[in-house]
Amino acid sequence: MAPRNLLDLDDFSAEELMALLDRAEAFHRDPSPRRLLAGVPVVNLFFEPSTRTQTSFAIAEHRLGAEVVSIDPGDSSMVKGESIADTAITLAAMGVGAVIVRHRESGFPYALARSFPGHVVNAGDGTHAHPTQALLDLMTLRQEFGRVAGLRVAIVGDIAHSRVARSNIHGLRTLGAETILVGPPTLLADAMAEEGVRVERDLDAVLPTVNAVMLLRIQRERLEGALVPSVAAYTAEYQLNARRLELLRDGAIVMHPGPYNRGVELTDDVLDFPSCRYVNQVANGVFVRMAVLEALCS
Ligand code: NCD
Repeated sequence: MAPRNLLDLDDFSAEELMALLDRAEAFHRDPSPRRLLAGVPVVNLFFEPSTRTQTSFAIAEHRLGAEVVSIDPGDSSMVKGESIADTAITLAAMGVGAVIVRHRESGFPYALARSFPGHVVNAGDGTHAHPTQALLDLMTLRQEFGRVAGLRVAIVGDIAHSRVARSNIHGLRTLGAETILVGPPTLLADAMAEEGVRVERDLDAVLPTVNAVMLLRIQRERLEGALVPSVAAYTAEYQLNARRLELLRDGAIVMHPGPYNRGVELTDDVLDFPSCRYVNQVANGVFVRMAVLEALCS
């Protein structure tokens, strides 16, 4: 049975994830417009800023023929105190088929999904999950290596506040990859270690051992107090730069979900590095979002 919502990747089996990646590849090979969602109103509800995610959802929706409605939440009645449940009833009454939602509160899309009879796609909730980002990351890895199983992927930086890291951990584990989390104790607790997931502190020691390194931005908007001693202290240990690129083994790739902060988690050398896959990741975002909408709505 087709899933109703995409809230996080932990709801999906390896077979279901692979099927989504296969469909995303089919859309990549043939990105021509379709009528799969013809006549279906799809609402984009982004309570937090977004460039990549919001734009690629809108492109994916248009390409599938949906009636695309993007609401600025500042203009919605939620600012007048309307509850999530009542907003859901209102959207359903207008025949809205799917809502794509981003919110600073972890769990918000789950609450919406409880009241909304259509489909809910989580476009990022607080520090919790960002499943379509993880899907596009998995797609990028599979394009590069022909598989995800057996890969070793380092995720570096502010893991504590990263919904991207959390969804990737689920997806990588389900598809049989090993994850190494790398960062300072203030941004990465030892307790994040679990089956298939290691916690390491020494980036220089990890870099020669991985197939891919995924860099994260420090989520300043989610930091309470100074968890990072200083930018200088952080960059000394965890910035990917020209010297550290030399430590990567041949064939290893660099990834970043964006937005990146030049001079913090990476230097310009990283963006110029021939094996940096940031642009491929962004491009794949449209195709995985088409695949998700197709899987949920058709
Ligand atoms: C991320 C997000 O918003 O979770 N960006 C994205 O969607 N590509 C990561 C971030 O904000 O650092």
